[in-house]
Amino acid sequence: MELRTRALQVLLIADPQAKAAAARELHAAATAMTGTPSASPAADGAPITPSPDCGTSPALAPEVWLDTSAILVPETEPPGRPARPRLVAALQVASRSPYTPEGRAALLHAIAHIEFNAINLALDAVWRFPDMPRAYYLDWLRVAAEEALHFTLLDEHLRGLGRAYGDFDAHDGLWTMAMRTAGDVLARMALVPRTLEARGLDATPPLQAKFAKAGDARAVEILGVILRDEVGHVRIGNHWYRHLCRERGLDPVALYPELVERHEAPKLRPPFNLEARGAAGFSDEELAYLRS
Ligand SMILES: [Fe+2]
Repeated sequence: MELRTRALQVLLIADPQAKAAAARELHAAATAMTGTPSASPAADGAPITPSPDCGTSPALAPEVWLDTSAILVPETEPPGRPARPRLVAALQVASRSPYTPEGRAALLHAIAHIEFNAINLALDAVWRFPDMPRAYYLDWLRVAAEEALHFTLLDEHLRGLGRAYGDFDAHDGLWTMAMRTAGDVLARMALVPRTLEARGLDATPPLQAKFAKAGDARAVEILGVILRDEVGHVRIGNHWYRHLCRERGLDPVALYPELVERHEAPKLRPPFNLEARGAAGFSDEELAYLRS
């Protein structure tokens, strides 16, 4: 099994539960058979070490290999997704007050949709961009597996409330940004993990407070897992953004607003979760800019 080819196959799976299971299996195949955990920034609070370069990344089991140079062509337009949820403009998405059962389900659905998209985004980072170090691909396979876990936890919780993923409308902002940055891995790292996903770091604690007030302790718990893991994902984005800037001789801080402009990315808006952003590898200079 070639990992990037398989990542593309999993990206094309339409059924969300099957995709989530396949994403977790793919990561397990890439790492567990060797008995070596993926060499990436920790999402579990353990000390975070930079991803190793290709020369030092763990060896893969013989049944699993990685072709970093292949240029892959999808058979159908990615991503695979189910017929529902219906994708609508962001403003048309249902009201999400968590203080009614319907509103709480709609809010959980919106978060599940983000996680479904996040599986797609991580798999897309693996198949689409050739010639990155091996550790880059292992990092994003790990992210895909963790996003799959997040989706699964939310999907199960939603079912406990008598609803399912697909029951509410959703919008497609995350995948739109993925497509705008499909031509350049540097822009992708800058604008998807360290812009859109980093907004999740800011948004999660207030969401947890709302669910707590609504008496949904399970949702608070799931969001705790998500926040913990997302710090690692944004950190992976920061790591590879800086790696690519170094390689191309670009200043990561000066380049960022240019990329936002060029690819029409959403502008950053406070309040920011500076503690989580610091843990996710934003530099003192970047944090000082957000504070101002
Ligand atoms: Fe996630």
